Amino acid sequence: MKGVVLAGGLGTRLGPMTQVANKHVLDLYDEPMIHFPVRTLARAGVTELVVVVGRYGEQVQAVLGDGSALGVAIEYAHQEGEAGIADALARARPHVGDDRIVAILGDNLYQDDLRPFVEAFRAQEHGARILLKQVEDARRFGVATVDGDRITGIEEKPAEPKSDLAVTGCYMYDARVFEIVDGLEPSARGELEITDVNNDYVARGEMAFDVLPGWWTDAGTHASKLKASILVALTKGVTFHA
Ligand code: G1P
Repeated sequence: MKGVVLAGGLGTRLGPMTQVANKHVLDLYDEPMIHFPVRTLARAGVTELVVVVGRYGEQVQAVLGDGSALGVAIEYAHQEGEAGIADALARARPHVGDDRIVAILGDNLYQDDLRPFVEAFRAQEHGARILLKQVEDARRFGVATVDGDRITGIEEKPAEPKSDLAVTGCYMYDARVFEIVDGLEPSARGELEITDVNNDYVARGEMAFDVLPGWWTDAGTHASKLKASILVALTKGVTFHA
């Protein structure tokens, strides 16, 4: 099993800092954002990683190096421009071969230890597995509809969400994922969407899921980055005095 950390893109929503810095090296309390998804994979027992970087990717490489300080081994891949999360995933293909992957977005933070979910994926014969979280503002995310133990569909940032279950940024795939990405067409915003990849597995009846008990957040907007910083500080026992 290989881990793929998706740290491409331009980080436009975190401007103006992202005009001069890679989004994933910006700070969450006292550490660069990219530390958190790398540590999430390491904690789950996934330690052979491919980190896909985009603009100012050398800053991510300067921060993570070979990964040994975080207990992982890192190879780097490069995404030119901003063609979407699924396009970034495809850049990892030469490093992954026929292995299964656990992909994680470079701006996603998880309270939970993901090991039980990764183990459940290992036990699957094939297919994919995603992690859902109940949220108040589902319109910001991919949103899944669920019928019992089956996902019936996923909509990307729907104006009127059909559920409150956000698709979080950790995706587990069998080796077929790269063929699926090859067959994708760009969406209306000109990107290869990870939601289209996931819906391919849903349509084949091969998408398993778990609902996370702990907190989860992204850090890709000013508001969610601030929330992530506060959650990190609280986790580290920081108290805010009046
Ligand atoms: C991406 C995905 C979305 C997912 C979210 C999680 O959105 O497209 O489905 O719910 O990450 O953070 P983005 O934040 O890149 O717009």
